Amino acid sequence: METLYLKGTDRDLDRAAAIIKGGGLVAFPTETVYGLGADALNANAVAKIYEAKGRPADNPTIVTIADVSDLETLTPEVTEDMKKLAEAFWPGPMTMVVPAAPIIPAITIAGLKTAGIRMPDNALTRELIRRSKPLAGPSANRSKRPSPTTAQHVLEDMDGRIDAVLDGGTCRVGIESTIIDLSGDVPMILRPGMIIRSQFEEVLGKKVLLDPTLNRDPSEAANDTSDFHPKAPGMKYKHYAPKAPMLLFEGPYEKVLAEIDVVRKAHEEKGERVYVISFEPDEAERAAHDIYGLLREADASGADLILATALPQEGAGFSVMNRMLKSASFHVIRV
Ligand code: TXA
Ligand code: MG
Repeated sequence: METLYLKGTDRDLDRAAAIIKGGGLVAFPTETVYGLGADALNANAVAKIYEAKGRPADNPTIVTIADVSDLETLTPEVTEDMKKLAEAFWPGPMTMVVPAAPIIPAITIAGLKTAGIRMPDNALTRELIRRSKPLAGPSANRSKRPSPTTAQHVLEDMDGRIDAVLDGGTCRVGIESTIIDLSGDVPMILRPGMIIRSQFEEVLGKKVLLDPTLNRDPSEAANDTSDFHPKAPGMKYKHYAPKAPMLLFEGPYEKVLAEIDVVRKAHEEKGERVYVISFEPDEAERAAHDIYGLLREADASGADLILATALPQEGAGFSVMNRMLKSASFHVIRV
């Protein structure tokens, strides 16, 4: 199949909407990362997403909406907490897990009783949804590859596998939305993102939990008697991975840079290609914006090894580290 490249003119949006309504796949821009869209209410269309991505069938896709009013059709009851969060953070990088309405096909939510709903801050994509349907929208990478933050990244992974890509430029945030589960007794963050726990607690006026398995090395689970299954099915998979092995260096910034330099030289002397990624401790936002593009660039450069600075694991730094730790398969060197 030939993948259409669309820019977002009125005519382009009509073409993209026609593809969605016809059960096809369109990659769409959001402020976090690019999504791979199909009509969320059409089981056959959603099946094509799993196929194109190579995604395991037990991993639900989130449902992407254009307007808060769309939420009413997708969950049986819009609660006060949902209203508060929608008001405060939508459109924006937040996904709410809520009880699923019966119109959502089982395949979209991988047989769960809940659905992740997200309203992205991107005018083109919301207009596409208004002209078509709510979109099942996982990130538009092939499974296990870094999420795409440009239309070019989408084409690297998906050219010839999807009907079209809608180019909305480079994603502003760069890492995926925060997922907050509102379906239990206490709200819980299942995937950290740029909207952080304290912001949710402030808006909801109550305690919000953080899935305790986040940012922990699954290989340590053997020595651990606590429940080690992340609550978001997708969080258990190896994600965000570049081709080359990656090492994270943690410690005082200047010392970390010096150590990275030593290790880099040692490997270069053996004739290896080393790709260095460095962020200052207070650069969590830039790190979020750049990380996936840098991992793809490292791959494209033919790197044999990637060396990167760790970020302090607080606030947004915790969320970026969630991705970097997985990219590095939890290889952390304490300096
Ligand atoms: O920023 C984002 O959220 C991007 C953009 C494209 O919107 N989308 C995205 O989708 O990251 P995806 O499918 O790559 O990640 C969705 C995550 C997966 O880890 C999945 O397991 C989890 O959300 N998820 C989806 N529905 C869920 C549910 N009902 N309960 C628990 N976790 C759910
Ligand atoms: Mg993804």
